[in-house]
Amino acid sequence: MTEATSIDHVQTLLGDTGYVCGRALATVVFLALKLGRPLFLEGEAGTGKTEIAKALAQALGRRLIRLQCYEGLDASSAVYEWNFPAQMVAIRTAEAAGGADRAALRTELFSEEFLVERPLLEAMRPQPGGAPVLLIDEIDRTDEPFEAFLLEALSDFQVTIPELGTIHAPEPPIVVLTSNRTREVHDALKRRCLYHWVDYPTFERETQILAARAPEASETLSREVVAFVQRLRTEDIFKKPGVAETIDWAKCLLALDVIDLSPEVISDTLGAILKYQDDIQKLHGSEARRILDEARAQLA
Ligand SMILES: Nc1ncnc2c1ncn2[C@@H]1O[C@H](COP(=O)(O)OP(=O)(O)OP(=O)(O)O)[C@@H](O)[C@H]1O
Ligand SMILES: [Mg+2]
Repeated sequence: MTEATSIDHVQTLLGDTGYVCGRALATVVFLALKLGRPLFLEGEAGTGKTEIAKALAQALGRRLIRLQCYEGLDASSAVYEWNFPAQMVAIRTAEAAGGADRAALRTELFSEEFLVERPLLEAMRPQPGGAPVLLIDEIDRTDEPFEAFLLEALSDFQVTIPELGTIHAPEPPIVVLTSNRTREVHDALKRRCLYHWVDYPTFERETQILAARAPEASETLSREVVAFVQRLRTEDIFKKPGVAETIDWAKCLLALDVIDLSPEVISDTLGAILKYQDDIQKLHGSEARRILDEARAQLA
């Protein structure tokens, strides 16, 4: 188990896992750890929000517990469920054994043995390496009732199971929430958290990320790829490529033994950076050349 002792230390710890972390992000991560507050990360798709939680868990030597949010997610999928099939088997077995004590059977059926722990409950259990990192990913996909429920769970880090009683986290988990902002998350929940907007990285940072994630790429190719993607983000397109796409694209180019970019190569590999046919159509032909020329001019 590792403790982060300063903002610089957070940067180094995350850097050692391959996560390139700017000063602003490192500061908010450090404060979240120091004050024990949940970290709320919002930003465009593919900018490294989910990865922060993974990198943090790895850097601090903690277990990562992930709650992937989706529409219709409810408490039974997020906190706990009773193992109904196993309970049925236990009832049948008791019946076959002939007239078991009903009260004893009831107590047995609602004991830990038949409890199925879901991420939120798991995150409240003590872990060997210290409190886990709890990643609540893409919270904007859930609905408001679940958000309200989460607000309560995050405020006192305890879960009440009627049949078992209240389970309290001996040490609160390190909570990271992410949102792609497909809707606004309620103020009450945001107020509990430290907030950070994860933006597209600068040219320098994105080349550092590429060096960490696709180290096989030559410096020339990396710089061209990043300059092109950065330029592309300023264009009027429907879905701008994230850092994930930059990395994917570099890997595709490496697989094709590309040494430097050309309009033809770009056209052939656009599917790695653009995921909408309208955007791809726009970039075919002279547009790719224009953007490449502009990107190269910026590099020079
Ligand atoms: N700062 C960074 N340092 C290292 N790798 C990064 C960084 N930012 C993004 N990446 C890489 O980019 C990819 C996408 O990151 P991630 O999945 O965390 O994005 P996200 O913001 O959660 O996207 P989505 O909104 O689509 O879920 C990952 O493979 C991650 O390793
Ligand atoms: Mg994500």
